[in-house]
Amino acid sequence: MSTPPLPAVPSPGALTQDELKTLVGRAALDYVVRGQWVGVGTGSTVNKFIDALVSVRHEIPGAVSSSVASTERLRALGIAVRDANEVERLAVYIDGADEIDGKGYMVKGGGAALTREKIVAAQSDRFVCIADASKQVSVLGKFPLPVEVIPMASARIMRQFAALGGRAAMRMAGDKPLVTDNGQLLLDVQGLSISDPLAFEAEISQWPGVVTVGVFAFQRAHICLLGTDAGVQTLRFD
Ligand code: 5RP
Repeated sequence: MSTPPLPAVPSPGALTQDELKTLVGRAALDYVVRGQWVGVGTGSTVNKFIDALVSVRHEIPGAVSSSVASTERLRALGIAVRDANEVERLAVYIDGADEIDGKGYMVKGGGAALTREKIVAAQSDRFVCIADASKQVSVLGKFPLPVEVIPMASARIMRQFAALGGRAAMRMAGDKPLVTDNGQLLLDVQGLSISDPLAFEAEISQWPGVVTVGVFAFQRAHICLLGTDAGVQTLRFD
């Protein structure tokens, strides 16, 4: 398979959200450690990264992916994908976010892949977040918080969120509940203001029936490549 040309790099100015995603997806190539497996997240921004990754695919053995969708896209472009269990450590994990705050804490899961994203992030030395500037917040909670749950616990977990002042809704795919890559359900919780992401993640993670809460505080970003009209801004949190 020959290497397709990279999409044109948009020049800074008044850029669309899609162009900002292309910009940061391309910029993330600088963080891919040549000769090593790379952790790959999920979502429209990561898709831009995957498209750019093709240009260095002969310099890396391949990727560990966080979703069926990313695995399919990687393989379709000729990039090998290995199961997370087959690779002990990853030098870098590259993924998007629904929100990111000033400390690199994030809300993730808009693409329903939060559990596998947290798993791959946990075996990576460095998390590089790629996001457009609309994702930057001072306090997490504006974006509805995704929480993957075991089906038989979903009603109780919704009541527990209500007791915290949140409004949890089942994520739907058409007229049926969405089923994740792991065969579980997803709640989206509105109305939360997450001022202490570490404490919040620790607390919700131990509720029986919660598979994964979409706050990434323990697996926060170390670097964020933020797409702005002035170009890519590099935020460092380590
Ligand atoms: C998927 C995610 C994504 O990283 C997040 O939803 C951002 O997606 P996008 O790049 O499409 O805005 O957490 O579960």
